[in-house]
Amino acid sequence: MPRHFLRDDDLTPAEQRQVLELAMAFRDDRHVRTPLAGPRAVAILTDKPTLRTQVSFTAGVAELGGYPLMVDGKLAQVGVRESIADVTRVLDRQVAAIVWRTYGQERIEEMAAVSRVPVVNALTDGFHPCQILADLLTVAQLRGGVEALAGQVFAYVGDAANNMANSYLLGGASAGLHVRVGGPEGYQPDAAIVARAAEIAATTGGSVLVTADPKEAVAGADVVATDTWVSMGDEDEAAERQQPFVPYRVDDALLAGAKDDAIVLHCLPAYRGKEITAEVIDGPRSAVWDEAENRLHAQKALLTWLLEQR
Ligand code: NVA
Repeated sequence: MPRHFLRDDDLTPAEQRQVLELAMAFRDDRHVRTPLAGPRAVAILTDKPTLRTQVSFTAGVAELGGYPLMVDGKLAQVGVRESIADVTRVLDRQVAAIVWRTYGQERIEEMAAVSRVPVVNALTDGFHPCQILADLLTVAQLRGGVEALAGQVFAYVGDAANNMANSYLLGGASAGLHVRVGGPEGYQPDAAIVARAAEIAATTGGSVLVTADPKEAVAGADVVATDTWVSMGDEDEAAERQQPFVPYRVDDALLAGAKDDAIVLHCLPAYRGKEITAEVIDGPRSAVWDEAENRLHAQKALLTWLLEQR
């Protein structure tokens, strides 16, 4: 059976370290490994809008020696025109891996259950694990290596019930981070995710804190991250998803509670003046462009690693 990457804890802490070390090698030499030489194709299927995912997987697969095959979800209509299982059985005979951005986590789990090739989650409503690998790589890059990750205080503020919050909890705990998640009542993570993150943290020396107090979340933080208050799929709730989040905006005042040299991350797209101010995202502590680039290196490492497991 192939290995899949559907949520952050599909990699053990040791496996996550291997992927991040390989990603550092890809940062140094973009062609250090070419596991898709031939070329072999990778299907990149997306049911939601995309920029970074399309660019980083397309460029990444090409740099691995492969052929990136973009499949438009609007044309394929996976699960509507034909079942997820039937789509998967067609794809896995022709490609070396399947990358999918979709809605419910159960959709990608259904694909992985039948796929004979690795399936990679390129964002679902539940998780965005490729982004967390890129974020961890960014912190490693700026703090002196993968071994420097454990013990870092990593604060995420904003919509603490979304895919990024869930993935920071699981992926951050795997890396031994002290993960602090701050969001308003009603927008906090599922108890099961928090419990799973705490279970992982107990094995890595990390820790997990969920709070409604944004100042408590960022106090002494080495890294401060945020994300849009209105995720893809939540557009109908855009009006009600403003006022509750205002205290969680990453501005200079909130950032004053973090360490002086704190790194600021945002997975993008960013809405300046909403979840983050222009001064912060365009300021000296922002690492968002490194973070966006690191999607490329992290996903190349992930694909290389997954293809080696079979
Ligand atoms: N939480 C956001 C992340 C975008 C990369 C969304 O799901 O839209």
